[in-house]
Amino acid sequence: MTRSILILNGPNLNLLGTRQPEVYGPTTLQDIQDMCSAKAAQLGISMVFRQSNHEGELVDALHAARGTHAGVILNAGAYTHTSVALMDAISSIMLPVIELHLSNIHAREAFRHKSYIAPVAIGQICGFGAAGYPLAMDALVSYLGDAE
Ligand code: DQA
Repeated sequence: MTRSILILNGPNLNLLGTRQPEVYGPTTLQDIQDMCSAKAAQLGISMVFRQSNHEGELVDALHAARGTHAGVILNAGAYTHTSVALMDAISSIMLPVIELHLSNIHAREAFRHKSYIAPVAIGQICGFGAAGYPLAMDALVSYLGDAE
């Protein structure tokens, strides 16, 4: 069976392309999804790409990933810095999760240095803009190895 991964995007990422392009670049979320589809084909995996502005929907999507996907790439947006609920969801689903950010959160405001996702993620990729998405896919596939 083809291995499947979930790429989950949080609040305001639907506005990429017009949202603070000096921070997040000119690429739209649709462009990123297209890039991830091409990368998935290259890696021989299938991929579901989602975005929600709602914390509870992100929690639900993480719960639903269990039994459906082999791992998750999560750009939780601002919920990264606030959400114990997302942290607990990740701890509960027993799936490898990679934390992803377009910007380098450690080089920005102090409140962005704190991540509730980092302690429960297998690793973090940030600061590479849209290119971080295919990098995270490589990292997840490499982490999953041959395990089912
Ligand atoms: C972000 C970084 C967060 O601090 C911010 O709230 C976002 C986007 C990123 O991809 O760089 O919404 O997750």
